Amino acid sequence: MIALLLFLLLGTLLFWFIKHQYSYWNRRSFPCDPDTNIPYGCLTSVVKHEKSMGVALYDAYVKAKSPFIGIYLLFRPAVMIRDAELAHQILIQDFTSFHDRGLYLDEKRDRMSCNLFSLRGQRWRTLRQKLTPTFSSSKLKAMFHTSDDIGDKMVEHLNKILPDEGRAEVDIKDILVTYAIDIIGSVIFGLDINSFEEPKNKFRCLVRQARRNNLLMLIFLCPSVAKYLVRLGFKNKTAIGLREILKDTIEYREKHNIVRKDMLQLMMQLMNTGKIAEDDDNWSTKANTTTGEENEFTLDDIAAQGFIFYIAGQDSTSSAAAFTIFELAQNPDLLARAQNEVQEVLARHNGQLSYDALQEMPFLDLCLQETMRKYPFPFLSRECTRDYTIPGTQHVIEKGTPIVIPLLGIHRDPHYFTNPMIYDPDRFSPSNANYNPNAYMPFGAGPRHCIALRMGKINSKLGLVKILQNFDVEVMGKREIIIDNHSAGIQPKGGVKVRLSKRAKPCH
Ligand code: HEM
Repeated sequence: MIALLLFLLLGTLLFWFIKHQYSYWNRRSFPCDPDTNIPYGCLTSVVKHEKSMGVALYDAYVKAKSPFIGIYLLFRPAVMIRDAELAHQILIQDFTSFHDRGLYLDEKRDRMSCNLFSLRGQRWRTLRQKLTPTFSSSKLKAMFHTSDDIGDKMVEHLNKILPDEGRAEVDIKDILVTYAIDIIGSVIFGLDINSFEEPKNKFRCLVRQARRNNLLMLIFLCPSVAKYLVRLGFKNKTAIGLREILKDTIEYREKHNIVRKDMLQLMMQLMNTGKIAEDDDNWSTKANTTTGEENEFTLDDIAAQGFIFYIAGQDSTSSAAAFTIFELAQNPDLLARAQNEVQEVLARHNGQLSYDALQEMPFLDLCLQETMRKYPFPFLSRECTRDYTIPGTQHVIEKGTPIVIPLLGIHRDPHYFTNPMIYDPDRFSPSNANYNPNAYMPFGAGPRHCIALRMGKINSKLGLVKILQNFDVEVMGKREIIIDNHSAGIQPKGGVKVRLSKRAKPCH
């Protein structure tokens, strides 16, 4: 009897709590969705596995009309910004009121959570300043040959699996994921891997777990729940495994005085000297080059950054290249322009693909720009870090409120981009530019925009060039990518299937 009463009491309290939470926006007379679904808010279709999170947020964007609306992410009231100018105001001019993402972070007990993506306030700012030189063009240029080698291994692999004559269907996304993962394994973790030849290598198996990790979703939606789960013993096994790999590699390099021009080397330099050298020829990690700056960057910090670089880098880079191939294959005129450009530039460079040659392919840049418009990471997130009155209104966003900027909605809104579902790289050509530049944010905007923008662009372009240079591409018919329901980003359901054949005269 007592148990039953207790159960009823708890049930009533829970019901009251949920009702109260879900009246948050109405109590503040804040514009919000009149048909809010209790108890999952605009993520009901995600919980039911009917839509991906990106598409659920896109639906909320399309349904609403006002420049901003109050939404519910499960139980959390959040604000969705629908207006590109207001989004810019928040991300750039008013950054001081929105400098964090509000994701899971436990600096005291979980050092591996202290990555650049999740860190807050001054800790984030300091680390961002320290890591920025790692991604400079000169440093990336020095690392180019590693990505180039991996691109060649991808071509070798495709040459092995394709018939000499005729064509075969290939999941180009899967191929490019392997390419992007090997680049990260190599330049960030310092490994000598070839996942095309050895798909079951230690690094690949370890990171495969991370792609299935539901903790990532919790980190965004319920950071406090993620924190308690970690305190209760739930472990991020991938990050721990990656730390072990890094520890072994660092010890090996230090013991044998090995200097490799990669990001791990630069992070070791930061760990040992407190700074990444501005001199592009200085890759030394010897502590006697110390700058006298306080050195707080440890092995755990290298591992935390390595983990987030993997998460942030592999899918974005491979998607940009794979969706470009897919769209070009559907548009033979554009494909021919892209292939001609590759051919011409390589002819000028004696068939040698180099960092500089890659900079001379403006049409491919337009194609990648257009791909990242049509297939962006679907949303940007921030947390309001002090009470904020939305300019020109009386509405106040309270400190602690999550902010969602639905990029997929904005990038596919005809108000900002005419005929948004048409793949038209020329919309970005300087002579043509008929779009609202504030609405275009594939790498985010403001001080927290993607730190590896250049690296992402170079590696996706390089992957693209390798395919166009060596293979002809076709699709079976006009179609749109179907987005898988089980992801936060834009994961193509069933991969990105195209038909490839070896080019009669590869241009080298
Ligand atoms: C085409 C490839 C890429 C795209 C489209 C992309 C996109 C993005 C976007 C949209 C954000 C959020 C920005 C914001 O909130 O304003 C971001 C942040 C970030 N990205 Fe990328 N990214 C790419 C490649 C990479 C790579 C290769 C790495 C690492 C090696 C990386 C590391 C990061 C990190 C660490 C952040 C957080 C920055 C901070 O908070 O200071 N990204 N990226």
